[in-house]
Amino acid sequence: MITKLLDFFDIDYKKLKKCYKDGQLVAIPTETVYGLSADATNTYAVKKIYEAKGRPSDNPLIVHFYDIKQIRNIVDVENENVQKLIDNFWPGPMSLILNIKNKSIISNKVTAGLNSLAVRMPSNKFAREILKQTEVLLAAPSANTSGKPSPTKFSHVYNDLKDKIDIIIKADDSDIGLESTVIDCTKYPFEIARPGDITLKNLKKILGEEGIIYRKNRVIKNPIAPGMKYRHYSPNAELIILDKTLDETLFFLKNKKSDTVFISYKKYENKLKNYDFKIKFLAADEDNIEECNRNFYNILRECDLENIKEIYIMKIKENDVNEALLNRLEKASSKK
Ligand code: TXA
Ligand code: MG
Repeated sequence: MITKLLDFFDIDYKKLKKCYKDGQLVAIPTETVYGLSADATNTYAVKKIYEAKGRPSDNPLIVHFYDIKQIRNIVDVENENVQKLIDNFWPGPMSLILNIKNKSIISNKVTAGLNSLAVRMPSNKFAREILKQTEVLLAAPSANTSGKPSPTKFSHVYNDLKDKIDIIIKADDSDIGLESTVIDCTKYPFEIARPGDITLKNLKKILGEEGIIYRKNRVIKNPIAPGMKYRHYSPNAELIILDKTLDETLFFLKNKKSDTVFISYKKYENKLKNYDFKIKFLAADEDNIEECNRNFYNILRECDLENIKEIYIMKIKENDVNEALLNRLEKASSKK
Protein backbone atom coordinates (compact mmCIF):
# COMPACT_ATOMS: atom_id res chain seq x y z
CA MET A 1 0.00 0.00 0.00
CA ILE A 2 1.25 3.49 -0.82
CA THR A 3 0.54 6.06 1.87
CA LYS A 4 -0.91 9.31 0.54
CA LEU A 5 0.23 12.56 2.15
CA LEU A 6 -2.75 14.91 1.98
CA ASP A 7 -2.57 18.57 2.94
CA PHE A 8 -5.39 19.48 5.34
CA PHE A 9 -6.52 22.29 3.02
CA ASP A 10 -6.86 19.86 0.08
CA ILE A 11 -9.30 17.53 1.85
CA ASP A 12 -12.44 16.62 -0.07
CA TYR A 13 -14.71 15.63 2.82
CA LYS A 14 -17.08 13.50 0.75
CA LYS A 15 -14.12 11.44 -0.41
CA LEU A 16 -12.65 11.30 3.09
CA LYS A 17 -15.94 10.07 4.53
CA LYS A 18 -15.99 7.35 1.86
CA CYS A 19 -12.42 6.37 2.79
CA TYR A 20 -13.53 5.90 6.40
CA LYS A 21 -16.63 3.95 5.32
CA ASP A 22 -14.39 1.72 3.20
CA GLY A 23 -12.33 0.92 6.29
CA GLN A 24 -9.25 3.00 5.50
CA LEU A 25 -6.72 4.23 8.06
CA VAL A 26 -6.13 7.99 8.21
CA ALA A 27 -3.54 9.73 10.42
CA ILE A 28 -4.93 13.04 11.70
CA PRO A 29 -3.51 15.92 13.74
CA THR A 30 -4.79 16.55 17.26
CA GLU A 31 -3.67 19.01 19.94
CA THR A 32 -1.97 16.25 21.94
CA VAL A 33 -0.29 13.98 19.36
CA TYR A 34 -1.18 12.74 15.86
CA GLY A 35 -3.81 9.96 15.91
CA LEU A 36 -4.29 6.95 13.61
CA SER A 37 -8.03 7.08 12.94
CA ALA A 38 -10.59 4.67 11.55
CA ASP A 39 -14.36 4.25 11.71
CA ALA A 40 -14.99 2.99 15.27
CA THR A 41 -18.09 1.07 14.15
CA ASN A 42 -16.17 -0.96 11.55
CA THR A 43 -14.43 -4.02 13.02
CA TYR A 44 -12.42 -4.64 9.85
CA ALA A 45 -10.99 -1.09 10.00
CA VAL A 46 -10.30 -1.21 13.73
CA LYS A 47 -8.42 -4.51 13.38
CA LYS A 48 -6.19 -2.84 10.81
CA ILE A 49 -5.24 -0.14 13.33
CA TYR A 50 -3.81 -2.82 15.64
CA GLU A 51 -1.96 -4.44 12.74
CA ALA A 52 -0.45 -1.22 11.39
CA LYS A 53 0.85 -0.19 14.82
CA GLY A 54 1.84 -3.68 15.97
CA ARG A 55 -0.34 -2.97 19.00
CA PRO A 56 -1.20 -5.73 21.51
CA SER A 57 -4.89 -6.63 21.06
CA ASP A 58 -5.68 -6.18 24.78
CA ASN A 59 -5.00 -2.44 24.63
CA PRO A 60 -8.26 -0.54 23.99
CA LEU A 61 -8.66 2.56 21.81
CA ILE A 62 -10.11 6.02 22.46
CA VAL A 63 -13.15 7.09 20.40
CA HIS A 64 -13.03 10.70 19.16
CA PHE A 65 -16.17 12.69 18.39
CA TYR A 66 -17.34 16.19 17.48
CA ASP A 67 -20.61 16.65 19.36
CA ILE A 68 -21.62 15.18 22.71
CA LYS A 69 -24.93 14.09 21.11
CA GLN A 70 -22.98 11.49 19.11
CA ILE A 71 -22.00 9.58 22.26
CA ARG A 72 -25.02 10.03 24.55
CA ASN A 73 -26.49 6.70 23.51
CA ILE A 74 -23.17 4.89 23.66
CA VAL A 75 -21.70 5.80 27.06
CA ASP A 76 -23.20 6.93 30.34
CA VAL A 77 -22.55 10.65 30.83
CA GLU A 78 -25.51 11.21 33.19
CA ASN A 79 -23.40 11.90 36.25
CA GLU A 80 -22.92 15.28 37.91
CA ASN A 81 -19.14 14.95 38.15
CA VAL A 82 -18.74 13.70 34.59
CA GLN A 83 -20.83 16.69 33.53
CA LYS A 84 -18.48 19.05 35.40
CA LEU A 85 -15.47 17.59 33.60
CA ILE A 86 -17.20 17.88 30.24
CA ASP A 87 -18.20 21.51 30.88
CA ASN A 88 -14.70 22.49 31.93
CA PHE A 89 -12.33 20.49 29.75
CA TRP A 90 -14.04 19.55 26.45
CA PRO A 91 -13.13 20.10 23.74
CA GLY A 92 -9.60 19.42 24.95
CA PRO A 93 -6.85 16.97 25.98
CA MET A 94 -9.03 14.81 28.24
CA SER A 95 -10.25 11.24 27.65
CA LEU A 96 -12.99 9.86 29.89
CA ILE A 97 -13.40 6.15 30.59
CA LEU A 98 -17.16 5.67 30.93
CA ASN A 99 -19.55 2.73 31.26
CA ILE A 100 -20.89 1.51 27.93
CA LYS A 101 -24.65 1.77 27.42
CA ASN A 102 -25.10 0.19 24.04
CA LYS A 103 -22.39 -2.15 22.90
CA SER A 104 -23.69 -2.70 19.40
CA ILE A 105 -22.64 0.58 17.81
CA ILE A 106 -18.91 0.58 18.57
CA SER A 107 -16.84 -2.39 17.41
CA ASN A 108 -15.84 -4.60 20.35
CA LYS A 109 -12.28 -4.52 18.99
CA VAL A 110 -12.16 -0.87 20.13
CA THR A 111 -12.72 -1.76 23.78
CA ALA A 112 -10.62 -4.94 23.74
CA GLY A 113 -13.49 -6.70 25.49
CA LEU A 114 -13.87 -4.23 28.41
CA ASN A 115 -17.28 -2.93 29.59
CA SER A 116 -16.01 0.63 29.50
CA LEU A 117 -15.12 2.93 26.61
CA ALA A 118 -12.71 5.88 26.54
CA VAL A 119 -14.01 8.91 24.63
CA ARG A 120 -12.50 12.29 23.76
CA MET A 121 -13.62 15.51 22.08
CA PRO A 122 -10.40 17.02 20.70
CA SER A 123 -9.98 20.81 20.46
CA ASN A 124 -7.53 20.93 17.55
CA LYS A 125 -9.28 22.86 14.77
CA PHE A 126 -8.19 20.41 12.06
CA ALA A 127 -9.36 17.37 14.02
CA ARG A 128 -12.67 19.09 14.77
CA GLU A 129 -13.25 19.93 11.14
CA ILE A 130 -12.56 16.33 10.07
CA LEU A 131 -14.92 14.96 12.75
CA LYS A 132 -17.61 17.53 11.94
CA GLN A 133 -17.55 17.14 8.17
CA THR A 134 -17.31 13.35 8.02
CA GLU A 135 -19.65 12.68 11.00
CA VAL A 136 -17.74 9.48 11.70
CA LEU A 137 -16.89 8.33 15.23
CA LEU A 138 -13.14 7.82 15.04
CA ALA A 139 -11.22 5.23 17.02
CA ALA A 140 -7.72 6.72 17.20
CA PRO A 141 -4.65 5.66 19.13
CA SER A 142 -1.45 7.66 18.76
CA ALA A 143 -0.16 7.24 15.18
CA ASN A 144 3.19 5.63 16.07
CA THR A 145 4.54 2.11 15.88
CA SER A 146 3.67 0.53 19.23
CA GLY A 147 6.43 1.20 21.78
CA LYS A 148 7.88 4.22 19.95
CA PRO A 149 7.42 7.83 21.11
CA SER A 150 4.07 9.28 20.02
CA PRO A 151 4.14 11.48 16.89
CA THR A 152 3.90 15.25 17.26
CA LYS A 153 4.58 15.98 13.56
CA PHE A 154 3.15 14.39 10.41
CA SER A 155 6.72 13.44 9.43
CA HIS A 156 6.93 11.28 12.59
CA VAL A 157 3.85 9.38 11.41
CA TYR A 158 5.37 8.98 7.97
CA ASN A 159 8.62 7.57 9.38
CA ASP A 160 6.76 4.95 11.43
CA LEU A 161 3.78 3.99 9.29
CA LYS A 162 4.52 4.73 5.64
CA ASP A 163 3.11 2.00 3.39
CA LYS A 164 1.06 0.60 6.29
CA ILE A 165 -1.76 3.17 6.32
CA ASP A 166 -3.84 4.85 3.61
CA ILE A 167 -3.59 8.59 4.27
CA ILE A 168 -1.62 11.04 6.44
CA ILE A 169 -3.21 14.46 6.83
CA LYS A 170 -0.45 17.08 6.72
CA ALA A 171 -1.07 19.83 9.24
CA ASP A 172 0.70 21.75 12.02
CA ASP A 173 2.72 20.13 14.79
CA SER A 174 0.79 19.14 17.91
CA ASP A 175 0.65 22.04 20.40
CA ILE A 176 0.75 19.97 23.57
CA GLY A 177 3.05 17.15 22.54
CA LEU A 178 2.02 14.54 25.16
CA GLU A 179 -1.09 12.34 25.09
CA SER A 180 -4.37 13.30 26.78
CA THR A 181 -5.14 12.89 30.47
CA VAL A 182 -7.14 9.64 30.76
CA ILE A 183 -9.63 9.59 33.66
CA ASP A 184 -11.46 6.52 34.93
CA CYS A 185 -15.00 7.74 35.70
CA THR A 186 -16.47 4.29 36.28
CA LYS A 187 -15.92 4.54 40.06
CA TYR A 188 -15.74 7.19 42.76
CA PRO A 189 -13.41 8.89 43.42
CA PHE A 190 -12.43 9.19 39.78
CA GLU A 191 -8.85 8.16 39.05
CA ILE A 192 -6.20 9.38 36.63
CA ALA A 193 -5.27 6.38 34.48
CA ARG A 194 -2.70 8.34 32.46
CA PRO A 195 -1.48 11.84 33.44
CA GLY A 196 -1.59 14.55 30.77
CA ASP A 197 -1.85 18.26 30.16
CA ILE A 198 -4.88 18.51 32.47
CA THR A 199 -3.30 17.94 35.87
CA LEU A 200 -4.49 16.49 39.18
CA LYS A 201 -4.53 20.06 40.51
CA ASN A 202 -6.73 21.26 37.62
CA LEU A 203 -9.09 18.34 38.23
CA LYS A 204 -9.29 18.84 42.00
CA LYS A 205 -10.36 22.43 41.41
CA ILE A 206 -13.40 21.14 39.56
CA LEU A 207 -14.17 17.87 41.38
CA GLY A 208 -12.96 18.81 44.88
CA GLU A 209 -10.05 17.32 46.86
CA GLU A 210 -11.94 14.05 47.40
CA GLY A 211 -13.28 13.66 43.88
CA ILE A 212 -10.16 12.53 42.04
CA ILE A 213 -7.00 10.56 42.78
CA TYR A 214 -3.69 9.97 41.01
CA ARG A 215 -1.57 7.07 42.19
CA LYS A 216 1.69 7.63 40.41
CA ASN A 217 3.15 4.22 41.17
CA ARG A 218 -0.04 2.39 40.32
CA VAL A 219 0.02 3.93 36.84
CA ILE A 220 3.45 2.38 36.35
CA LYS A 221 3.07 -0.94 38.20
CA ASN A 222 -0.63 -1.95 38.12
CA PRO A 223 -2.29 0.35 35.62
CA ILE A 224 -5.99 0.93 34.90
CA ALA A 225 -5.12 1.77 31.29
CA PRO A 226 -3.77 -1.45 29.75
CA GLY A 227 -1.48 0.65 27.55
CA MET A 228 0.50 1.88 30.54
CA LYS A 229 1.86 -1.59 31.32
CA TYR A 230 3.94 -1.80 28.17
CA ARG A 231 7.43 -0.40 27.85
CA HIS A 232 6.52 2.68 25.98
CA TYR A 233 7.49 5.93 24.40
CA SER A 234 11.04 4.69 24.10
CA PRO A 235 13.74 5.73 21.65
CA ASN A 236 16.25 3.16 20.33
CA ALA A 237 18.93 4.69 22.55
CA GLU A 238 19.15 4.09 26.26
CA LEU A 239 17.65 7.02 28.14
CA ILE A 240 19.29 7.55 31.52
CA ILE A 241 18.06 9.92 34.23
CA LEU A 242 20.91 11.32 36.34
CA ASP A 243 20.29 12.39 39.92
CA LYS A 244 23.24 14.83 39.97
CA THR A 245 23.91 18.56 39.85
CA LEU A 246 24.82 20.15 36.52
CA ASP A 247 28.53 20.27 37.40
CA GLU A 248 28.53 16.62 38.52
CA THR A 249 26.65 15.66 35.35
CA LEU A 250 29.17 17.42 33.10
CA PHE A 251 32.05 15.77 34.93
CA PHE A 252 30.35 12.39 34.49
CA LEU A 253 29.75 12.98 30.76
CA LYS A 254 33.05 14.67 29.92
CA ASN A 255 34.50 11.82 27.81
CA LYS A 256 31.29 10.97 25.95
CA LYS A 257 31.33 11.28 22.17
CA SER A 258 28.89 12.38 19.50
CA ASP A 259 26.82 9.18 19.84
CA THR A 260 25.66 10.56 23.20
CA VAL A 261 23.04 13.26 23.75
CA PHE A 262 22.60 15.36 26.86
CA ILE A 263 19.09 16.84 27.07
CA SER A 264 19.36 20.15 28.88
CA TYR A 265 18.01 23.74 28.95
CA LYS A 266 18.95 26.92 27.07
CA LYS A 267 19.68 28.74 30.31
CA TYR A 268 22.79 26.53 30.70
CA GLU A 269 23.99 27.09 27.13
CA ASN A 270 27.22 28.86 28.14
CA LYS A 271 28.31 25.99 30.38
CA LEU A 272 27.70 23.41 27.66
CA LYS A 273 30.28 24.50 25.11
CA ASN A 274 33.40 22.51 24.18
CA TYR A 275 32.10 18.99 24.76
CA ASP A 276 32.10 16.19 22.15
CA PHE A 277 28.65 14.88 23.12
CA LYS A 278 25.57 16.47 21.56
CA ILE A 279 23.28 18.86 23.40
CA LYS A 280 19.55 19.10 22.80
CA PHE A 281 17.45 21.71 24.56
CA LEU A 282 14.17 20.58 26.07
CA ALA A 283 13.16 24.19 26.80
CA ALA A 284 14.51 27.54 28.00
CA ASP A 285 14.43 26.12 31.53
CA GLU A 286 12.74 23.25 33.36
CA ASP A 287 9.93 25.48 34.67
CA ASN A 288 8.70 26.08 31.17
CA ILE A 289 6.63 22.92 31.26
CA GLU A 290 4.59 23.51 28.12
CA GLU A 291 7.76 23.91 26.09
CA CYS A 292 9.27 20.78 27.69
CA ASN A 293 6.15 18.72 26.90
CA ARG A 294 5.97 19.97 23.32
CA ASN A 295 9.61 19.11 22.57
CA PHE A 296 10.10 15.85 24.46
CA TYR A 297 8.99 13.22 21.92
CA ASN A 298 10.52 15.15 19.03
CA ILE A 299 13.91 15.10 20.73
CA LEU A 300 13.68 11.34 21.33
CA ARG A 301 12.84 10.85 17.65
CA GLU A 302 15.71 13.10 16.52
CA CYS A 303 18.06 10.94 18.61
CA ASP A 304 16.82 7.85 16.73
CA LEU A 305 17.37 9.50 13.35
CA GLU A 306 20.91 10.46 14.41
CA ASN A 307 21.68 6.91 15.66
CA ILE A 308 22.35 8.08 19.18
CA LYS A 309 23.32 5.29 21.60
CA GLU A 310 22.85 7.00 24.97
CA ILE A 311 20.66 9.89 26.08
CA TYR A 312 21.17 11.56 29.46
CA ILE A 313 18.87 13.97 31.25
CA MET A 314 19.07 15.41 34.74
CA LYS A 315 16.33 14.35 37.17
CA ILE A 316 13.41 16.78 37.12
CA LYS A 317 11.85 17.75 40.47
CA GLU A 318 8.21 16.85 40.81
CA ASN A 319 5.74 19.75 40.96
CA ASP A 320 2.04 20.55 40.33
CA VAL A 321 2.31 20.79 36.58
CA ASN A 322 4.86 18.22 35.40
CA GLU A 323 3.29 14.85 36.32
CA ALA A 324 2.75 13.92 32.65
CA LEU A 325 6.33 14.71 31.64
CA LEU A 326 7.74 12.75 34.61
CA ASN A 327 5.52 9.79 33.75
CA ARG A 328 6.65 9.74 30.09
CA LEU A 329 10.27 10.23 31.12
CA GLU A 330 10.05 7.25 33.45
CA LYS A 331 8.35 5.13 30.77
CA ALA A 332 10.98 6.08 28.18
CA SER A 333 13.95 5.52 30.45
CA SER A 334 15.96 2.34 30.44
CA LYS A 335 15.26 1.64 34.09
CA LYS A 336 12.73 -1.19 34.16
O1 TXA B 1 -4.08 12.25 23.30
C1 TXA B 1 -4.49 11.12 23.09
O2 TXA B 1 -5.18 10.50 23.91
C2 TXA B 1 -4.12 10.48 21.73
C3 TXA B 1 -4.80 11.29 20.62
C4 TXA B 1 -4.61 10.67 19.28
O3 TXA B 1 -6.15 11.47 20.94
N1 TXA B 1 -4.51 9.10 21.73
C5 TXA B 1 -3.84 8.17 22.46
O4 TXA B 1 -4.34 6.90 22.29
O5 TXA B 1 -2.91 8.43 23.17
P1 TXA B 1 -3.52 5.58 22.72
O6 TXA B 1 -4.32 4.46 22.20
O7 TXA B 1 -2.14 5.70 22.28
O8 TXA B 1 -3.65 5.58 24.28
C6 TXA B 1 -4.90 5.32 24.89
C7 TXA B 1 -4.69 4.87 26.31
C8 TXA B 1 -4.06 3.51 26.39
O9 TXA B 1 -3.13 3.50 27.48
C9 TXA B 1 -5.25 2.60 26.68
O10 TXA B 1 -4.88 1.42 27.40
C10 TXA B 1 -6.15 3.51 27.50
O11 TXA B 1 -5.98 4.79 26.95
N2 TXA B 1 -7.57 3.13 27.39
C11 TXA B 1 -8.37 3.24 26.31
N3 TXA B 1 -9.60 2.76 26.58
C12 TXA B 1 -9.59 2.34 27.86
C13 TXA B 1 -10.55 1.72 28.72
N4 TXA B 1 -11.79 1.46 28.33
N5 TXA B 1 -10.17 1.42 29.99
C14 TXA B 1 -8.90 1.69 30.41
N6 TXA B 1 -7.96 2.26 29.64
C15 TXA B 1 -8.30 2.58 28.39
MG1 MG C 1 -0.16 5.48 22.24
